[in-house]
Amino acid sequence: MSDQLRSIGFIGAGKVGGTLARLWHQRGYAISAVYSRTFAHARALADAVGAEAVDTPEAVIAASDLTMLVVPDDQIRPLAEQLTLRSRSLMGKAVVHTSGALDVRALESAAAVGASVGSLHPAFPFADVETAVLNLPGAAFAVESEDVRLRGWLLGLVASLDGQVVAISPGSKVLYHAALVIASNYTVTLYALAERLLMSLGADRAAAEAALNPLVTGTAENLRLRGIPDALTGPLVRADVGTVTEHLRALEMVDMDAAALYRQLARMTLPLAAARGVSLDALMRLLAQEEENENDHS
Ligand SMILES: NC(=O)c1ccc[n+]([C@@H]2O[C@H](COP(=O)([O-])OP(=O)(O)OC[C@H]3O[C@@H](n4cnc5c(N)ncnc54)[C@H](OP(=O)(O)O)[C@@H]3O)[C@@H](O)[C@H]2O)c1
Repeated sequence: MSDQLRSIGFIGAGKVGGTLARLWHQRGYAISAVYSRTFAHARALADAVGAEAVDTPEAVIAASDLTMLVVPDDQIRPLAEQLTLRSRSLMGKAVVHTSGALDVRALESAAAVGASVGSLHPAFPFADVETAVLNLPGAAFAVESEDVRLRGWLLGLVASLDGQVVAISPGSKVLYHAALVIASNYTVTLYALAERLLMSLGADRAAAEAALNPLVTGTAENLRLRGIPDALTGPLVRADVGTVTEHLRALEMVDMDAAALYRQLARMTLPLAAARGVSLDALMRLLAQEEENENDHS
């Protein structure tokens, strides 16, 4: 493998592949070849980044120092095995996937025939290529590779996007990904629950969103500027036991699951309130009593 990263190929022309290829092309990296399940998608991306659209994954490997395997998680291992079966040796080649949940072992078949392997996970929600191209620069990336030269390439690629590197210890990738899912995906779940509750009171969707969007973006901004625990607002940080009790009673009238979730989240918020100097005695007594009532009813 040359010290210089001369060419990057892509297997998978979806949201993540389409974004990374475009951004690295803009930053001056040579994108050599693109293969995807649907040839028209490979061609569209290849045309956008001055690459060749090819009709086999092996052709990407042949044309590239570094091949990015940017396909759904459950396709990564089978594709790596397919590449391994068809190529006697991948010596001198690097293969990297972008999954958050899988670690580098998903590519062990490629490593067994000489490839340098790694993973590069952008901690970013790719809803579509256009907005991701605008907003990905500056994001954090989990970088994993034991190969010094490949690790250097990956750190260079992250730096080209003004990215931050998240250090995670070996074997911790699944927990790392679970943490990101809690922050990103379940924010959407909580938003949907709040929207449903507001709409059950007669608000239409536009009015519910008008109420929720400034709260969510304001909270994200407070987290960015002030961090934890200062971004926390609301009844717990005021030790407002009466309000929390009334919230629980109101939720129990319409949705027992929502009430149980509220109780659980309140319990998990207590350490943050304590870090803000709130005395927890009354809140803890309330939540313990609520837990007892919950157990009696179950
Ligand atoms: N989306 C996110 O927010 C996000 C964030 C970080 C990391 N990731 C990771 O990035 C990877 C790709 O995710 P994505 O969101 O880009 O998925 P995606 O938009 O669904 O794109 C996947 C691409 O892979 C292609 N493909 C599927 N099976 C294939 C196969 N057997 N051979 C060749 N190409 C195949 C698809 O083909 P066609 O379109 O050509 O049919 C599609 O272009 C995953 O590992 C995911 O976990 C995703």
